[in-house]
Order: sequence, then structure tokens, then C-alpha cells
Amino acid sequence: MKGIILSGGSGTRLRPLTKMTSKQLLPVYNRPMIYYPLNTLLKAGITDILIIIAPEHAGNYLNLLGSGKEFGARFTYEIQDEPRGLAEAFIIGESFLDGENVAMILGDNIFEDDFTEDITSFRSGGRIFAKQVPDPERFGVVTFDSDGRVTSIEEKPTEPQSNYAIPGLYIFDGRAAEVAKSVTPSARGELEITEMHNYYLQRGELDVKTFEGAWVDAGTFDSLLSAQQLAKEKLQDKLIV
Ligand code: DAU
Repeated sequence: MKGIILSGGSGTRLRPLTKMTSKQLLPVYNRPMIYYPLNTLLKAGITDILIIIAPEHAGNYLNLLGSGKEFGARFTYEIQDEPRGLAEAFIIGESFLDGENVAMILGDNIFEDDFTEDITSFRSGGRIFAKQVPDPERFGVVTFDSDGRVTSIEEKPTEPQSNYAIPGLYIFDGRAAEVAKSVTPSARGELEITEMHNYYLQRGELDVKTFEGAWVDAGTFDSLLSAQQLAKEKLQDKLIV
């Protein structure tokens, strides 16, 4: 299993903090934000990791993370010139992936749980996660029927039919790059990751799992503050780097 940390974008919601550095390098308690998703991958035994970054801050990433040796890993870097959507990561990463299975995590998503079992047991198709939140309209949203089967997946619905958000940890099989290439840009001009979920869902190959621990998408001032608190109060003894 290979890993991708998607750490590009322009972080406009966090200006002026993101005028001088990348959102995912901002401090979250005692570590740069990207260390938390990096921990999630490393703990699951993923050491071959592609880090996708925006051109403006590429030097900062190299200074901070380097080759990966210090972390017992091997890091590869690719530039995403414009934030054209999450699914573009698999197109940018096509030659890195070379048809292997992949776990992609967003550089601003912080999880309390250990996903080792979910990652190591994965064989084929797609596996994503679901978490009940008070503000599902901010996220990809999944609905279930009374038997727990997935009935729909939508990106930021204005009237969500459930409160299950889809966090930024995605596990796909060797088809990921091909599937991403089949996605057409949405109304906001992005290759939406939810289209990839729907590709696997329509073929009966999508597994959606709920999980217990906390999850924060640290992309706004309030969620950044929640991330700081989570990191201080619950994550310190769980981090390996
Ligand atoms: O956090 C989970 C959510 O992430 C999912 O529930 C949604 O389905 C998914 O679309 C995404 O929604 P966001 O509104 O959080 O997406 P955002 O544009 O903020 O991008 C998420 C992260 O990915 C952010 O740290 C920046 C980075 N990014 C984003 C885009 C669009 C890139 O590196 N490249 C991109 O092209």
C-alpha cells in the first residue's frame, strides 16, 4: 500500500495566517499540522509516501520533511499548480502509484483513531469512512438505509439527508488514477473525490466504515482551535513522530 498526503490548496479561509506559509504547516499544538496525517499513515505501516504541495511553499516542505529518512520513510514530492480538486491527486500521482493500492489522507485532517486494521485488511475496491457531525453541509455526505447499506454520496449538499460526513482518508485500489481521469469537473470547477466514491459505489465495491474517535478538518479558525485542543488533550501519547 502506498500513501499520499494531499497538502496543496491556497488556504484562503485561514488568511492572513496562510499568506506566509501553507495551511498544513501551521502549528497544531506542538507539531506542524501535516505531522498528524503523517502519523496516521506511518502508524499503519505506510512508508512510501507522495506529498502533493502547492508551488508557493514547496521549499518549506522540503526543509521540514526532507527525504523522509528521519521518519523511517521515503517521501516523494509533486507540485499541484492549481487546486483543481482532490481527485486530481491520483492523476498527479499516477506514475508514483504504478497501479498499487493507495491510502490518501488530507494534510489538514486530524484523526484520533488508529486505522492500521482498515488499511492493512484492504484488498480491492474503495474504502472510505463516515462520522456523525453537527454541520454535514460542509463535507461529503453519505446516507444509509435501515440495513446500513449506502444509498447516496453527495458533495456538500445544501440539505443533507444524513449527518454522516466523509472524512479525508480514502483507500482505493489500483484503478484510482483511471477512475480519477474519468471524473468531469463539478460546477465549482473541481475534480470531486465524491465522484470517485460513486464510481466504486455503483459497482458495489465501496466499503464505508464508521469510527469511534475524534476527527477534525482543521481548515477554519474554529476547527483549527479544536484541532489544537484535540492534539494537546488526546493525541500526544499516540504520536510516533
Ligand atoms: O475534510 C473532508 C472533506 O474534504 C470531504 O468531506 C469532502 O468530500 C472533500 O471535498 C473535502 O472538502 P473540503 O471543503 O474540506 O475541501 P478543501 O477544498 O478544503 O480541500 C481539502 C484539503 O485538500 C485542503 O487541505 C486543501 C487540499 N487541496 C484541496 C484542493 C481542492 C489540495 O491540496 N488540492 C486541491 O485541489
